Amino acid sequence: MEADRLNSPSTSVITFEVLGHQLQFSQDPNSKHLGTTVWDSSMVFAKFLEKNCRKGRFCPSKLKGRRVIELGAGCGVAGFGMALLGCDVVSTDQIEVVSLLRRNIERNTSRIMQMNSNSDSFGSIRVAELDWGNEDHIKAVAPPFDYIIGTDVVYAEHLLGPLLKTIIALSGPKTTIMLGHEIRCTSVHEQMLQTWKKFFEVKIVPRAKMDSKYQHPSIQLFIMGLKTPAVTAEKPDNAVSAENLDKKTQGIDQQVNEVKTRKTDREEGQNCGNGTGVDDLDGEVIKEDCLQVTRLPDGKLSDWEARRYGSMAARLLRDIKIT
Ligand SMILES: C[S@@+](CC[C@H](N)C(=O)[O-])C[C@H]1O[C@@H](n2cnc3c(N)ncnc32)[C@H](O)[C@@H]1O
Repeated sequence: MEADRLNSPSTSVITFEVLGHQLQFSQDPNSKHLGTTVWDSSMVFAKFLEKNCRKGRFCPSKLKGRRVIELGAGCGVAGFGMALLGCDVVSTDQIEVVSLLRRNIERNTSRIMQMNSNSDSFGSIRVAELDWGNEDHIKAVAPPFDYIIGTDVVYAEHLLGPLLKTIIALSGPKTTIMLGHEIRCTSVHEQMLQTWKKFFEVKIVPRAKMDSKYQHPSIQLFIMGLKTPAVTAEKPDNAVSAENLDKKTQGIDQQVNEVKTRKTDREEGQNCGNGTGVDDLDGEVIKEDCLQVTRLPDGKLSDWEARRYGSMAARLLRDIKIT
């Protein structure tokens, strides 16, 4: 799909321990599609749920039966985390990814069902094709949802408009939108943030609320609600006729473009792949190499540290041109 991958699918299965379960996610190292690998922000998202599920809005008693849709689910890690906490999840992606996604969901669901004592709070999870902006796909999943989630779904400017339209079409007045994002390119990040702020009340999860290991200065979690409930899908049958989707999302492309053209001088001329650093939300430059390394007793890096170094290396290599 994309020529310049930013992570490296070197293994065909990863094991991830979260919410008391050893989950296994298959990847496809031979595929060029970005959805066939587990991305780090999905792990940060799931581990954030684990850390915050004892009390408050993410405890299983509050989440039981909540309808969740995951957009651009890839291998399905973040949505599976929500299902483990009792939500009824629809995990979606483009058709090319759906079969791998389905295999991952089925494999982990059956593992959990076999562990009777530990599966009490499990909700449900199913897979559906959803191409952003496709009215038939949106209608088929029956919006509105309580939660719309996505991790690492904004990696290029052209995706912002279709993603935003889809989020709005799937939302009701009380929908919460939770996104995980790894900052790789300042201009995409700035445009995304300004666009979100235009349409949503945006809260950025402080790093203290994230798992102490599964976090990184360049990975952010956003919790958002729509600013203008009038544009949302209040009634399911009002949600997604072609005409309604058009009405609800009218002007979004224009507004996304407005944000684009208002880029600051600071951003102009910046290269998405410069690999030297990224801006955090206060405009401070975060050093990409500020990963705290804790060696395991045998002197090896933990899986997470190895992933983060892999990500850094991929970013640096992207800028090397072999002539
Ligand atoms: C970088 S991957 C992230 C995958 C997964 N969320 C994760 O964190 O591991 C981006 C995902 O967005 C999906 N995606 C990109 N454009 C899309 C579109 N127009 N409609 C639906 N999904 C899309 C890709 O198929 C891919 O699964």
